[in-house]
Amino acid sequence: MASGLALQDEDRWPWLNALATQIDQWSQEGAVLACSALKESYREVLNKKALVSFIFLQASFDNIKDRLATRKYHFFRPELLQSQFDTLEVPKKALIINAQKNPQEIVKEIRNTLISKSEIGLIGLGVMGKSLARNFSKNGIKISLFNRHVPNLEEDIAVQFIAAHPELESSAGFDDIAAFVESLAFPRKIFFMVNAGQAVDAVIAALEPHLQEGDILMDGGNSHYKDTQNRFEALARKGMHFLGVGVSGGEKGALEGPSIMPGGSEKGYAQVGKYLEQIAAKDSKKNACCTRVGDGGSGHFVKMIHNGIEYAEMQLIAEIYDVMKTNLLLDNESIANIFKEWCKGDLDSYLLEISGNILTKKEDGTYILDNILDKAKQKGTGGWSTTAALQIGASLDTIAQSVMARIISGYKEERLAADKLYSLSRKHITDLSLESIKQAYRTARIINHGIGIEALRKASQEYGWELNLAEITRIWTNGCIIRSSLMETLEAVLTASNTSIFLEEAIQAQIQEGLDFLIGFTTKTMQAQTPTAVFSAATNYILAFTKGDSGANMIQAQRDYFGAHTYERKDIEGSFHTQWEK
Ligand code: 6PG
Repeated sequence: MASGLALQDEDRWPWLNALATQIDQWSQEGAVLACSALKESYREVLNKKALVSFIFLQASFDNIKDRLATRKYHFFRPELLQSQFDTLEVPKKALIINAQKNPQEIVKEIRNTLISKSEIGLIGLGVMGKSLARNFSKNGIKISLFNRHVPNLEEDIAVQFIAAHPELESSAGFDDIAAFVESLAFPRKIFFMVNAGQAVDAVIAALEPHLQEGDILMDGGNSHYKDTQNRFEALARKGMHFLGVGVSGGEKGALEGPSIMPGGSEKGYAQVGKYLEQIAAKDSKKNACCTRVGDGGSGHFVKMIHNGIEYAEMQLIAEIYDVMKTNLLLDNESIANIFKEWCKGDLDSYLLEISGNILTKKEDGTYILDNILDKAKQKGTGGWSTTAALQIGASLDTIAQSVMARIISGYKEERLAADKLYSLSRKHITDLSLESIKQAYRTARIINHGIGIEALRKASQEYGWELNLAEITRIWTNGCIIRSSLMETLEAVLTASNTSIFLEEAIQAQIQEGLDFLIGFTTKTMQAQTPTAVFSAATNYILAFTKGDSGANMIQAQRDYFGAHTYERKDIEGSFHTQWEK
């Protein structure tokens, strides 16, 4: 340049690559780098890991020419300026600053835009959204909140919510989407907590005109993983990063630290991971219960299976409660005491703990539980888990059965009529000790968790997600609805060895120790005419899984008999067909 020659691409690549390496090293501390980075391709080299916020200092040719004329002792010759302008591709993904202002004004504008802008934007102020907003703020993360404007119904929700919570003092509330996006630092990091389905697409569609390449969208609801996969791909085509973020922990967990299961864009996670990890629950070693589980729709798949395990765990407790009430004639207080006692040992879990509390809660002198209609609702994740498992060939017995149990619970009218008609005795069981129920419950839980975890393994193979099952169980040890002592054991087992849970010696020993109790509980309760569907599913699963020689050869023969579907043989390799009727 000193001899009057403009630089070419070949001159710049080594320099840009050296800078990219430096940027990588600065990613924790942050840095300001001044660089002409004239072309989009140069900026792509600098921003390989999506760590850079670009600020474009824009000035006219004449303005810069005037400045160069007054600059002394510099190798750059003013006549090279035209070549720079010829090479320049004005960035689309940058904060554009009028560089004709004075330096103080320029610095102020950059600071105002980049620093005083919110780090995270949050859309949707339902129960979970509100708790998460407070959690981000409590952790010192500056957020902008958006809630839609519905005349006479939802007005100034975000502003009013901020006013009611002192910890949200530094947050900004919006009901105008453009102003909301404008308030966010680059790249924009927007988390939405809206109902799964159309609402998610509506939010994305409303945001899109205001977004630019490199922005990051996070769907924190219980979306279907296939929808998440499609959204991830559609937004990637537009240069945006999408993450399907499973969030578990309910209202309290979201406020105090949920378990977070993000899946999707790696570059997006590089930008938002630190925020999500900050608000997440911490495991026993103080590590965040948050990890990027994999690509595409994997985060929502993992959350869906979490919920599947949750469905079956809830149903196991409901079945024990029903048996204790119906067949052991125990009252709420006694059952609560048993649950509380079990929670002191290795059966400790969040769900068992809250069930104990539920049993004794009274309203006007009567137990609330006794007045709650026995019709269980569901929003879909248990059923989705079951459908997904059928599609990928995973046997999801306990989870599928818990979905069916909720469905049958919904037939209240018919059940009442059938109860009268059949008038089954629901006998008193005298030979079922509390210790044997405890053992049966412990065993059924291990089987249920194993079924869920093995479904994740299968999905990981099917979709190429490379899920780290030890890491997934680790982030489930705290914050989420299925947190428990058992989860910690499973984490240890999967960390030590990553084969099928059911083939691990430690698990095999526990299942074998409890198997007779499980079979005993299932058969005795069924003989007493009380349904224990998930216990029964767990029993049959383990009996089938551990039977090396099954009756399925008969199925193969039947298929071949009526449909010439062929069969494989134990003694010879290949595919065979028999003329069965000749
Ligand atoms: C959680 C819960 C949460 C929600 C379930 C309830 O992990 O925090 O699972 O996601 O409570 O979706 O699902 P149902 O309404 O289907 O029971």
